Amino acid sequence: MDMDPVKKIVDSTKTLISPPDVWFRFNEAINTPNTTIEDISDIVKTDPSLVANVLKVVNSPYYGIRNKVDTISRAISVIGMDDLYNIITSVVAVNSFSKIATDLVKPSTFWRHSFCTAILARKLAKDCNVLHIERLYVAGLLHDIGNLVLYSRFPVESEEIIRESDGDEELHFRLEKKMFGFTHADIGAELLLQWGLPDVLTNTIRQHHDPCVNEDVVLDACIIHLANTLSNCFILGTYLERLPEKSNEPDECIWKYISLTDKQKDEVYEGLNDELADAISILIPYNL
Ligand SMILES: [Fe+2]
Ligand SMILES: [Fe+2]
Repeated sequence: MDMDPVKKIVDSTKTLISPPDVWFRFNEAINTPNTTIEDISDIVKTDPSLVANVLKVVNSPYYGIRNKVDTISRAISVIGMDDLYNIITSVVAVNSFSKIATDLVKPSTFWRHSFCTAILARKLAKDCNVLHIERLYVAGLLHDIGNLVLYSRFPVESEEIIRESDGDEELHFRLEKKMFGFTHADIGAELLLQWGLPDVLTNTIRQHHDPCVNEDVVLDACIIHLANTLSNCFILGTYLERLPEKSNEPDECIWKYISLTDKQKDEVYEGLNDELADAISILIPYNL
């Protein structure tokens, strides 16, 4: 029987963008009972650039921590293991995926859209009283990662899709389905599954254009769907550096799961530009 095409593409791409060894050791350690803060800290410390990036994020205005955090063990005691996991995931993913070459979309445009979606998702998650809001930040940051794979593996087809969709990400998604039989959401989810990211995150990414298909992750998926739709309404956050002729409305189904007051909706936009500029300067590791 033929191998699932999504798995086949991911298999042939993953060596190019596999996470560093430290990532696997870190994951193993946090999933092992009785691991201590020192054990985790010793593993992370083996990669000085990871330490530097993580501390930069932890000490950024984004976290609002008053006293400077200068070690990984202190970072864990201040922000907790869940947030550390999410920051490390973000830093490792941005570094690894930035290695994929594509001429179709500027890396800075791709990551601006990703950060914009992540920041909006975090705000929305807070408004919706989601327990671990950083999980939504990571899902927002990585939601379109499959696009990078498709742009690099199928440049001709992707160029056609980009031209035809003209800044409309929903249309882009539908054209992929028509042309390939799968989408960037499927590729991204499969790739991150193979990285060992939790199902809740990979399933959220899989259904970010189809948020209500799987009840297990429906709230997270609705939040990412809304954050993504809103990002595409800002020139700073669009996925292709241009606004579509007509902005997409989010899928109606999400309002069954998300209830926001008009004030909360307005606040989602407030401060976005400043926060976005800060986040980009903090998190993007290279001058993209
Ligand atoms: Fe997408
Ligand atoms: Fe997107």
